[in-house]
Amino acid sequence: MSNIKNNEFLGLREAAKDAFNKAYAPYSKFHVGAAALTTSGKIVKGCNVENASYGLTVCAERNCLAQGVISGERKFSAIVIYTNQEKLTPPCGACRQVIVEFLSPEALVIAVNHNNEQKQWTVNELLPDAFTPKDLLENKDLN
Ligand code: THU
Repeated sequence: MSNIKNNEFLGLREAAKDAFNKAYAPYSKFHVGAAALTTSGKIVKGCNVENASYGLTVCAERNCLAQGVISGERKFSAIVIYTNQEKLTPPCGACRQVIVEFLSPEALVIAVNHNNEQKQWTVNELLPDAFTPKDLLENKDLN
């Protein structure tokens, strides 16, 4: 756990598990919980929320970061993803892009499961050469 303390990780793991228990996934039955640590030291969490119109499903990671934004937080130092899968669950492509928006390239994304196993990546490992807000700075219409 290079950039967060062990007690912070344990708090994130617990929060992600709590979110996992609230997942709304009646269609896939694939429950996911996520928890992120804000750079100010708070924990925010989210679960996946599916819909009868399947394509409207929102993943746990994106709901988690949106929960942070709505509570006034825009910078996070780590995100933990909890599932009950034997194979640890990495974030999907769409979530990787949203993670890049709010976490630094060196920040950790940590997948955990019910067996207390874990696997971690840096944000940069999950989405190298990402399109970021900086890429928009050359767009004169936005300046
Ligand atoms: N899911 C997440 O919540 N996060 C991911 O990164 C991968 C997929 C959810 C979406 C859907 O509700 C279920 O898992 C199966 O794809």
